[in-house]
Amino acid sequence: MDAFSIEGPVRISGETAAAGSKNSSLPILAGCLLTDDECIIENVPDLRDIRTMLRLLEMLGRTVERRGGDVVVHAGRVTSTEAPYELVSTMRASISVLGPLLAKEGEARVSFPGGCAIGARPIDLHLKGLAALGAEIEITHGYVHARSPRLKGTTMYLAGSAGSSVLATDNVMMAAALADGVTVIQSAAIEPEVVDACHFLVAMGAKIEGIGTTTLTITGVPRLHGCRYRVIPDRIEAGTLLAAAACTGGDVFVRGADSSHLGIVLDVFGRAGMTVTSSPEGIRLQAAGNVRPVDFETLPYPGYPTDMQAQMMAVLAHAQGTSVITEKIYPERFIHVAELNRMGADIKLEEHTAIVRGVSRLEGAPVMASDLRAGAALVVAALAAEGTSLVRRIYHVDRGYERLEDKLTALGARITRVRDQQ
Ligand code: EPZ
Repeated sequence: MDAFSIEGPVRISGETAAAGSKNSSLPILAGCLLTDDECIIENVPDLRDIRTMLRLLEMLGRTVERRGGDVVVHAGRVTSTEAPYELVSTMRASISVLGPLLAKEGEARVSFPGGCAIGARPIDLHLKGLAALGAEIEITHGYVHARSPRLKGTTMYLAGSAGSSVLATDNVMMAAALADGVTVIQSAAIEPEVVDACHFLVAMGAKIEGIGTTTLTITGVPRLHGCRYRVIPDRIEAGTLLAAAACTGGDVFVRGADSSHLGIVLDVFGRAGMTVTSSPEGIRLQAAGNVRPVDFETLPYPGYPTDMQAQMMAVLAHAQGTSVITEKIYPERFIHVAELNRMGADIKLEEHTAIVRGVSRLEGAPVMASDLRAGAALVVAALAAEGTSLVRRIYHVDRGYERLEDKLTALGARITRVRDQQ
Protein backbone atom coordinates (compact mmCIF):
# COMPACT_ATOMS: atom_id res chain seq x y z
CA MET A 1 0.00 0.00 0.00
CA ASP A 2 1.09 3.61 -0.48
CA ALA A 3 1.66 6.30 2.10
CA PHE A 4 2.42 10.02 1.95
CA SER A 5 5.67 11.21 3.55
CA ILE A 6 5.19 14.88 4.44
CA GLU A 7 7.70 17.42 5.82
CA GLY A 8 6.32 20.38 7.74
CA PRO A 9 5.74 23.13 8.49
CA VAL A 10 5.29 24.72 5.03
CA ARG A 11 3.10 27.59 3.76
CA ILE A 12 0.65 26.34 1.15
CA SER A 13 0.37 29.18 -1.39
CA GLY A 14 -0.33 29.72 -5.07
CA GLU A 15 -3.01 28.93 -7.65
CA THR A 16 -4.57 25.54 -8.31
CA ALA A 17 -7.64 24.31 -10.18
CA ALA A 18 -10.75 22.55 -8.89
CA ALA A 19 -11.37 19.06 -10.26
CA GLY A 20 -14.80 17.82 -11.36
CA SER A 21 -17.05 16.60 -8.57
CA LYS A 22 -16.70 12.95 -7.52
CA ASN A 23 -20.09 13.00 -5.81
CA SER A 24 -21.78 14.40 -8.90
CA SER A 25 -19.98 12.10 -11.32
CA LEU A 26 -20.87 8.85 -9.55
CA PRO A 27 -24.71 9.09 -9.65
CA ILE A 28 -24.62 10.75 -13.07
CA LEU A 29 -22.54 7.90 -14.52
CA ALA A 30 -25.05 5.46 -13.00
CA GLY A 31 -27.84 7.56 -14.55
CA CYS A 32 -26.42 6.83 -18.02
CA LEU A 33 -28.10 3.42 -17.59
CA LEU A 34 -31.46 5.17 -18.08
CA THR A 35 -30.88 5.23 -21.84
CA ASP A 36 -29.30 2.95 -24.45
CA ASP A 37 -28.01 6.07 -26.23
CA GLU A 38 -24.47 7.38 -25.95
CA CYS A 39 -23.79 9.81 -23.09
CA ILE A 40 -20.69 11.98 -22.81
CA ILE A 41 -19.99 13.18 -19.28
CA GLU A 42 -17.42 15.99 -19.10
CA ASN A 43 -15.10 17.07 -16.28
CA VAL A 44 -15.10 13.63 -14.61
CA PRO A 45 -12.12 13.35 -12.22
CA ASP A 46 -9.79 10.35 -12.62
CA LEU A 47 -10.28 8.78 -9.18
CA ARG A 48 -10.32 5.28 -7.75
CA ASP A 49 -14.08 5.49 -7.10
CA ILE A 50 -14.77 6.68 -10.65
CA ARG A 51 -12.75 3.77 -12.06
CA THR A 52 -14.81 1.45 -9.86
CA MET A 53 -18.07 2.88 -11.23
CA LEU A 54 -16.80 2.53 -14.81
CA ARG A 55 -15.88 -1.11 -14.10
CA LEU A 56 -19.40 -1.64 -12.77
CA LEU A 57 -20.98 -0.19 -15.93
CA GLU A 58 -18.79 -2.54 -17.99
CA MET A 59 -19.81 -5.51 -15.82
CA LEU A 60 -23.42 -4.58 -16.59
CA GLY A 61 -22.59 -4.75 -20.29
CA ARG A 62 -22.07 -1.14 -21.30
CA THR A 63 -18.95 0.05 -23.14
CA VAL A 64 -17.21 2.99 -21.47
CA GLU A 65 -14.24 5.03 -22.65
CA ARG A 66 -12.15 7.69 -20.91
CA ARG A 67 -11.30 10.60 -23.26
CA GLY A 68 -9.07 12.92 -21.22
CA GLY A 69 -11.36 14.67 -18.72
CA ASP A 70 -14.49 13.17 -20.28
CA VAL A 71 -16.13 9.76 -20.02
CA VAL A 72 -18.08 8.30 -22.94
CA VAL A 73 -20.74 5.72 -22.13
CA HIS A 74 -21.26 4.29 -25.61
CA ALA A 75 -24.68 3.38 -26.96
CA GLY A 76 -25.71 -0.17 -26.15
CA ARG A 77 -27.84 -2.36 -23.95
CA VAL A 78 -26.96 -3.83 -20.58
CA THR A 79 -26.40 -7.59 -20.54
CA SER A 80 -26.73 -7.93 -16.77
CA THR A 81 -28.72 -6.22 -14.02
CA GLU A 82 -26.55 -7.45 -11.16
CA ALA A 83 -24.03 -5.34 -9.21
CA PRO A 84 -21.89 -7.95 -7.46
CA TYR A 85 -20.66 -7.96 -3.85
CA GLU A 86 -16.97 -7.95 -4.74
CA LEU A 87 -17.43 -4.59 -6.42
CA VAL A 88 -20.15 -2.95 -4.28
CA SER A 89 -18.17 -3.81 -1.14
CA THR A 90 -15.38 -1.53 -2.38
CA MET A 91 -17.65 1.42 -3.09
CA ARG A 92 -20.99 2.08 -1.42
CA ALA A 93 -22.04 4.54 -4.12
CA SER A 94 -22.54 1.51 -6.43
CA ILE A 95 -26.04 1.53 -4.92
CA SER A 96 -26.69 4.38 -7.39
CA VAL A 97 -27.31 1.87 -10.19
CA LEU A 98 -30.34 0.41 -8.38
CA GLY A 99 -32.89 3.04 -9.43
CA PRO A 100 -31.75 3.40 -13.07
CA LEU A 101 -31.57 -0.38 -13.68
CA LEU A 102 -34.99 -0.94 -12.08
CA ALA A 103 -36.60 1.84 -14.13
CA LYS A 104 -34.97 0.97 -17.46
CA GLU A 105 -34.70 -2.83 -17.26
CA GLY A 106 -37.52 -3.65 -14.81
CA GLU A 107 -35.15 -5.46 -12.50
CA ALA A 108 -31.98 -4.90 -10.45
CA ARG A 109 -29.95 -7.06 -8.10
CA VAL A 110 -27.44 -5.05 -6.08
CA SER A 111 -25.29 -6.33 -3.26
CA PHE A 112 -26.36 -4.79 0.02
CA PRO A 113 -23.65 -2.20 0.76
CA GLY A 114 -21.81 -2.82 4.01
CA GLY A 115 -20.90 -0.23 6.57
CA CYS A 116 -17.66 1.70 6.49
CA ALA A 117 -15.42 3.63 8.86
CA ILE A 118 -17.87 6.52 9.13
CA GLY A 119 -20.94 4.54 10.08
CA ALA A 120 -23.59 1.94 9.26
CA ARG A 121 -24.60 3.52 5.91
CA PRO A 122 -28.20 2.14 5.75
CA ILE A 123 -30.24 2.16 2.52
CA ASP A 124 -33.74 1.97 4.00
CA LEU A 125 -34.75 5.28 2.40
CA HIS A 126 -33.64 4.06 -1.05
CA LEU A 127 -35.80 0.95 -0.65
CA LYS A 128 -38.74 2.86 0.85
CA GLY A 129 -38.77 5.24 -2.12
CA LEU A 130 -38.49 2.54 -4.80
CA ALA A 131 -41.16 0.44 -3.08
CA ALA A 132 -43.43 3.50 -3.05
CA LEU A 133 -43.04 3.57 -6.86
CA GLY A 134 -44.33 -0.01 -6.94
CA ALA A 135 -41.11 -2.03 -6.93
CA GLU A 136 -41.20 -5.47 -5.32
CA ILE A 137 -38.12 -5.63 -3.14
CA GLU A 138 -36.62 -8.60 -1.35
CA ILE A 139 -33.33 -8.89 0.46
CA THR A 140 -31.80 -12.34 0.19
CA HIS A 141 -28.25 -13.64 0.62
CA GLY A 142 -26.91 -10.10 1.09
CA TYR A 143 -28.46 -8.77 -2.10
CA VAL A 144 -31.27 -6.31 -2.75
CA HIS A 145 -33.45 -7.75 -5.51
CA ALA A 146 -35.88 -5.16 -6.93
CA ARG A 147 -38.40 -5.91 -9.67
CA SER A 148 -41.19 -3.97 -11.34
CA PRO A 149 -42.68 -4.38 -14.82
CA ARG A 150 -43.79 -0.75 -14.64
CA LEU A 151 -43.12 1.86 -11.96
CA LYS A 152 -45.99 4.17 -11.03
CA GLY A 153 -45.61 7.74 -9.84
CA THR A 154 -46.68 8.65 -6.31
CA THR A 155 -46.07 11.18 -3.56
CA MET A 156 -43.56 10.28 -0.88
CA TYR A 157 -41.64 11.74 2.06
CA LEU A 158 -37.98 10.77 1.77
CA ALA A 159 -36.04 11.68 4.91
CA GLY A 160 -34.80 9.75 7.92
CA SER A 161 -33.71 10.65 11.42
CA ALA A 162 -30.59 12.38 10.06
CA GLY A 163 -32.62 14.32 7.50
CA SER A 164 -32.61 13.99 3.72
CA SER A 165 -30.50 11.46 1.81
CA VAL A 166 -28.35 12.43 -1.17
CA LEU A 167 -28.11 9.09 -2.98
CA ALA A 168 -31.62 7.99 -2.01
CA THR A 169 -32.96 11.17 -3.60
CA ASP A 170 -30.90 10.43 -6.72
CA ASN A 171 -32.04 6.79 -6.91
CA VAL A 172 -35.73 7.60 -6.51
CA MET A 173 -35.80 10.57 -8.89
CA MET A 174 -33.94 8.59 -11.55
CA ALA A 175 -36.46 5.76 -11.27
CA ALA A 176 -39.36 8.24 -11.25
CA ALA A 177 -38.07 9.82 -14.49
CA LEU A 178 -39.27 6.70 -16.39
CA ALA A 179 -42.28 5.85 -14.21
CA ASP A 180 -45.90 6.22 -15.28
CA GLY A 181 -47.37 9.45 -13.96
CA VAL A 182 -46.15 12.08 -11.53
CA THR A 183 -43.89 11.54 -8.53
CA VAL A 184 -43.54 14.10 -5.76
CA ILE A 185 -40.53 13.64 -3.48
CA GLN A 186 -40.94 15.61 -0.27
CA SER A 187 -37.85 16.29 1.85
CA ALA A 188 -35.56 15.64 -1.10
CA ALA A 189 -31.85 16.35 -0.64
CA ILE A 190 -30.73 19.66 -2.16
CA GLU A 191 -26.94 19.23 -2.17
CA PRO A 192 -25.33 20.80 -5.28
CA GLU A 193 -24.55 17.28 -6.51
CA VAL A 194 -28.28 16.39 -6.40
CA VAL A 195 -29.11 19.58 -8.33
CA ASP A 196 -26.42 18.55 -10.84
CA ALA A 197 -28.02 15.12 -11.24
CA CYS A 198 -31.40 16.82 -11.85
CA HIS A 199 -29.89 18.99 -14.60
CA PHE A 200 -28.29 15.89 -16.14
CA LEU A 201 -31.67 14.10 -16.18
CA VAL A 202 -33.33 17.15 -17.78
CA ALA A 203 -30.60 17.09 -20.45
CA MET A 204 -31.71 13.49 -21.14
CA GLY A 205 -35.32 14.66 -21.56
CA ALA A 206 -36.64 14.15 -18.03
CA LYS A 207 -39.36 16.44 -16.70
CA ILE A 208 -38.44 17.73 -13.21
CA GLU A 209 -39.84 20.74 -11.36
CA GLY A 210 -38.62 22.18 -8.06
CA ILE A 211 -34.93 21.57 -8.80
CA GLY A 212 -32.91 22.93 -5.88
CA THR A 213 -35.85 22.74 -3.49
CA THR A 214 -36.80 20.03 -1.02
CA THR A 215 -39.87 19.12 -3.09
CA LEU A 216 -39.14 17.53 -6.47
CA THR A 217 -41.98 16.88 -8.93
CA ILE A 218 -41.01 14.40 -11.63
CA THR A 219 -43.34 13.63 -14.53
CA GLY A 220 -42.39 10.28 -16.02
CA VAL A 221 -41.60 10.00 -19.74
CA PRO A 222 -41.57 6.85 -21.92
CA ARG A 223 -37.85 7.07 -22.67
CA LEU A 224 -34.77 9.20 -22.10
CA HIS A 225 -32.13 10.04 -24.71
CA GLY A 226 -28.38 10.43 -24.59
CA CYS A 227 -26.72 13.74 -23.82
CA ARG A 228 -23.45 15.56 -23.30
CA TYR A 229 -23.20 16.89 -19.74
CA ARG A 230 -20.47 18.66 -17.73
CA VAL A 231 -20.38 17.98 -13.99
CA ILE A 232 -19.88 20.76 -11.44
CA PRO A 233 -16.56 21.40 -9.70
CA ASP A 234 -15.79 19.37 -6.59
CA ARG A 235 -16.66 21.58 -3.62
CA ILE A 236 -15.11 19.22 -1.08
CA GLU A 237 -11.78 19.00 -2.90
CA ALA A 238 -11.79 22.80 -3.16
CA GLY A 239 -12.62 23.15 0.54
CA THR A 240 -9.81 20.73 1.38
CA LEU A 241 -7.25 22.79 -0.58
CA LEU A 242 -8.47 25.97 1.16
CA ALA A 243 -8.10 24.18 4.51
CA ALA A 244 -4.47 23.42 3.64
CA ALA A 245 -3.87 27.17 3.21
CA ALA A 246 -5.79 27.98 6.40
CA CYS A 247 -3.81 25.42 8.39
CA THR A 248 -0.39 26.63 7.23
CA GLY A 249 -0.76 30.43 7.20
CA GLY A 250 -0.88 30.28 3.42
CA ASP A 251 -2.69 31.96 0.52
CA VAL A 252 -4.40 29.78 -2.12
CA PHE A 253 -6.63 30.53 -5.10
CA VAL A 254 -8.73 27.60 -6.33
CA ARG A 255 -9.65 28.40 -9.92
CA GLY A 256 -13.05 27.07 -11.00
CA ALA A 257 -14.36 26.51 -7.45
CA ASP A 258 -17.97 27.64 -7.07
CA SER A 259 -18.43 29.67 -3.86
CA SER A 260 -22.23 29.26 -4.07
CA HIS A 261 -21.68 25.57 -3.21
CA LEU A 262 -19.54 26.36 -0.15
CA GLY A 263 -21.42 29.15 1.62
CA ILE A 264 -21.29 27.91 5.19
CA VAL A 265 -17.78 26.47 4.82
CA LEU A 266 -16.45 29.85 3.67
CA ASP A 267 -18.37 31.46 6.55
CA VAL A 268 -16.61 29.16 9.04
CA PHE A 269 -13.23 29.97 7.46
CA GLY A 270 -14.09 33.66 7.91
CA ARG A 271 -15.08 33.20 11.54
CA ALA A 272 -11.77 31.35 12.02
CA GLY A 273 -10.00 34.55 10.97
CA MET A 274 -9.29 33.79 7.31
CA THR A 275 -9.82 36.30 4.49
CA VAL A 276 -11.93 34.61 1.82
CA THR A 277 -12.49 36.29 -1.55
CA SER A 278 -14.96 34.77 -4.03
CA SER A 279 -15.32 35.61 -7.71
CA PRO A 280 -16.80 33.94 -10.80
CA GLU A 281 -13.27 32.66 -11.49
CA GLY A 282 -12.83 30.91 -8.15
CA ILE A 283 -12.15 31.24 -4.44
CA ARG A 284 -9.11 32.71 -2.65
CA LEU A 285 -8.25 32.10 1.01
CA GLN A 286 -5.59 34.19 2.78
CA ALA A 287 -4.75 32.90 6.22
CA ALA A 288 -4.32 35.30 9.10
CA GLY A 289 -1.45 35.17 11.59
CA ASN A 290 -3.57 33.06 13.91
CA VAL A 291 -6.68 30.85 13.88
CA ARG A 292 -9.76 31.72 15.90
CA PRO A 293 -11.95 28.99 17.44
CA VAL A 294 -15.32 28.26 15.78
CA ASP A 295 -18.24 26.05 16.80
CA PHE A 296 -20.22 24.24 14.08
CA GLU A 297 -22.40 21.18 13.52
CA THR A 298 -22.74 19.11 10.35
CA LEU A 299 -26.18 19.11 8.69
CA PRO A 300 -27.75 18.36 5.32
CA TYR A 301 -27.18 21.12 2.75
CA PRO A 302 -27.14 24.11 3.07
CA GLY A 303 -25.84 23.19 6.54
CA TYR A 304 -22.16 22.50 7.14
CA PRO A 305 -21.12 19.43 5.05
CA THR A 306 -20.00 16.35 6.97
CA ASP A 307 -17.42 15.76 4.22
CA MET A 308 -15.58 18.91 5.36
CA GLN A 309 -15.76 18.17 9.10
CA ALA A 310 -12.39 16.45 9.50
CA GLN A 311 -10.50 18.99 7.37
CA MET A 312 -11.89 21.94 9.37
CA MET A 313 -11.01 20.11 12.60
CA ALA A 314 -7.38 20.00 11.42
CA VAL A 315 -7.50 23.79 11.01
CA LEU A 316 -9.20 24.44 14.35
CA ALA A 317 -6.68 22.16 16.10
CA HIS A 318 -4.38 25.21 15.78
CA ALA A 319 -6.92 27.78 17.08
CA GLN A 320 -6.26 30.16 19.98
CA GLY A 321 -9.16 28.75 22.00
CA THR A 322 -11.61 25.88 22.06
CA SER A 323 -13.96 24.86 19.22
CA VAL A 324 -16.96 22.55 19.52
CA ILE A 325 -17.75 20.35 16.49
CA THR A 326 -20.97 18.28 16.47
CA GLU A 327 -21.43 15.54 13.84
CA LYS A 328 -25.12 15.08 13.10
CA ILE A 329 -24.90 13.12 9.83
CA TYR A 330 -22.48 10.30 10.73
CA PRO A 331 -22.14 10.36 14.54
CA GLU A 332 -19.12 8.01 14.45
CA ARG A 333 -17.21 10.11 11.93
CA PHE A 334 -14.39 10.95 14.39
CA ILE A 335 -11.73 8.26 13.78
CA HIS A 336 -9.37 11.05 12.70
CA VAL A 337 -9.48 12.52 16.25
CA ALA A 338 -7.16 9.86 17.71
CA GLU A 339 -4.77 10.32 14.78
CA LEU A 340 -4.72 14.12 15.18
CA ASN A 341 -4.07 13.66 18.90
CA ARG A 342 -1.05 11.50 17.99
CA MET A 343 0.25 14.64 16.28
CA GLY A 344 -0.14 16.64 19.48
CA ALA A 345 -3.68 17.94 19.04
CA ASP A 346 -5.83 18.26 22.15
CA ILE A 347 -9.28 16.93 21.16
CA LYS A 348 -11.76 15.18 23.40
CA LEU A 349 -14.88 13.31 22.28
CA GLU A 350 -18.18 13.55 24.11
CA GLU A 351 -20.89 11.49 22.37
CA HIS A 352 -21.15 12.99 18.88
CA THR A 353 -19.23 16.13 19.73
CA ALA A 354 -15.53 16.91 19.51
CA ILE A 355 -14.08 19.48 21.91
CA VAL A 356 -11.06 20.87 20.04
CA ARG A 357 -8.70 22.77 22.35
CA GLY A 358 -6.25 24.56 20.06
CA VAL A 359 -2.49 24.08 20.39
CA SER A 360 0.26 26.26 18.98
CA ARG A 361 1.90 23.60 16.79
CA LEU A 362 1.31 19.96 15.83
CA GLU A 363 4.21 17.52 15.54
CA GLY A 364 4.90 15.22 12.62
CA ALA A 365 4.05 11.57 13.33
CA PRO A 366 3.08 8.31 11.60
CA VAL A 367 -0.74 8.32 11.29
CA MET A 368 -3.36 6.23 9.48
CA ALA A 369 -6.19 7.26 7.14
CA SER A 370 -9.54 5.59 7.88
CA ASP A 371 -11.77 7.18 5.24
CA LEU A 372 -11.07 9.56 2.39
CA ARG A 373 -11.93 12.79 4.25
CA ALA A 374 -10.12 11.73 7.44
CA GLY A 375 -7.09 10.95 5.30
CA ALA A 376 -7.30 14.37 3.68
CA ALA A 377 -7.51 16.00 7.12
CA LEU A 378 -4.35 14.18 8.24
CA VAL A 379 -2.54 15.41 5.12
CA VAL A 380 -3.66 18.98 5.89
CA ALA A 381 -2.48 18.66 9.49
CA ALA A 382 0.87 17.13 8.43
CA LEU A 383 1.59 20.13 6.17
CA ALA A 384 1.42 22.38 9.25
CA ALA A 385 3.13 19.99 11.68
CA GLU A 386 6.74 20.33 12.83
CA GLY A 387 8.79 17.49 11.32
CA THR A 388 8.03 14.40 9.25
CA SER A 389 4.64 12.68 9.05
CA LEU A 390 3.79 9.39 7.36
CA VAL A 391 0.11 9.23 6.41
CA ARG A 392 -0.65 5.56 5.81
CA ARG A 393 -3.39 3.79 3.80
CA ILE A 394 -3.75 6.69 1.40
CA TYR A 395 -5.74 4.47 -0.93
CA HIS A 396 -8.59 6.05 1.02
CA VAL A 397 -7.42 9.50 -0.13
CA ASP A 398 -7.01 8.30 -3.73
CA ARG A 399 -10.72 7.48 -3.78
CA GLY A 400 -11.63 11.17 -3.69
CA TYR A 401 -8.56 13.19 -4.66
CA GLU A 402 -6.79 13.02 -8.01
CA ARG A 403 -2.98 12.97 -7.41
CA LEU A 404 -3.34 15.18 -4.30
CA GLU A 405 0.42 15.14 -3.83
CA ASP A 406 0.95 16.83 -7.22
CA LYS A 407 -1.51 19.64 -6.45
CA LEU A 408 0.00 20.24 -3.02
CA THR A 409 3.60 20.09 -4.30
CA ALA A 410 2.73 22.80 -6.81
CA LEU A 411 1.52 24.87 -3.84
CA GLY A 412 4.76 24.45 -1.89
CA ALA A 413 4.24 21.18 -0.02
CA ARG A 414 7.08 18.74 0.62
CA ILE A 415 5.09 15.54 0.06
CA THR A 416 6.06 12.27 -1.62
CA ARG A 417 4.17 9.05 -2.25
CA VAL A 418 6.09 6.12 -0.79
CA ARG A 419 5.52 2.38 -0.64
CA ASP A 420 4.45 1.23 2.82
CA GLN A 421 4.23 -2.17 4.38
CA GLN A 422 0.92 -1.28 6.15
C1 EPZ B 1 -23.44 11.09 0.06
O1 EPZ B 1 -23.55 9.80 0.63
C2 EPZ B 1 -21.97 11.30 -0.23
N1 EPZ B 1 -21.49 10.26 -1.15
C3 EPZ B 1 -21.16 11.25 1.06
O2 EPZ B 1 -19.81 11.58 0.74
C4 EPZ B 1 -21.69 12.31 2.02
O3 EPZ B 1 -21.00 12.21 3.24
C5 EPZ B 1 -23.19 12.09 2.24
O4 EPZ B 1 -23.88 12.10 0.98
C6 EPZ B 1 -23.80 13.17 3.12
O5 EPZ B 1 -23.61 14.42 2.53
C7 EPZ B 1 -21.75 10.38 -2.47
O6 EPZ B 1 -22.41 11.29 -2.91
C8 EPZ B 1 -21.18 9.32 -3.37
P1 EPZ B 1 -26.85 10.21 2.72
P2 EPZ B 1 -25.02 9.17 0.88
O7 EPZ B 1 -27.77 9.17 2.23
O8 EPZ B 1 -25.97 9.64 -0.14
C9 EPZ B 1 -28.72 8.38 6.60
C10 EPZ B 1 -17.50 11.34 0.64
O9 EPZ B 1 -16.73 11.58 1.55
N2 EPZ B 1 -29.41 7.47 5.67
O10 EPZ B 1 -27.09 11.64 2.34
O11 EPZ B 1 -24.83 7.73 1.07
C11 EPZ B 1 -27.21 8.16 6.64
O12 EPZ B 1 -26.86 7.12 7.56
C12 EPZ B 1 -18.79 10.59 0.92
O13 EPZ B 1 -17.38 11.74 -0.55
C13 EPZ B 1 -30.41 6.64 6.16
O14 EPZ B 1 -30.71 6.64 7.35
O15 EPZ B 1 -25.38 9.84 2.28
C14 EPZ B 1 -26.72 9.50 7.08
O16 EPZ B 1 -26.85 9.60 8.49
C15 EPZ B 1 -18.79 9.97 2.31
N3 EPZ B 1 -31.04 5.81 5.30
C16 EPZ B 1 -27.70 10.48 6.43
O17 EPZ B 1 -28.86 9.72 6.12
C17 EPZ B 1 -30.75 5.77 3.96
O18 EPZ B 1 -31.38 5.00 3.20
C18 EPZ B 1 -27.19 11.13 5.15
O19 EPZ B 1 -26.76 10.09 4.31
C19 EPZ B 1 -29.71 6.62 3.48
C20 EPZ B 1 -29.07 7.47 4.36
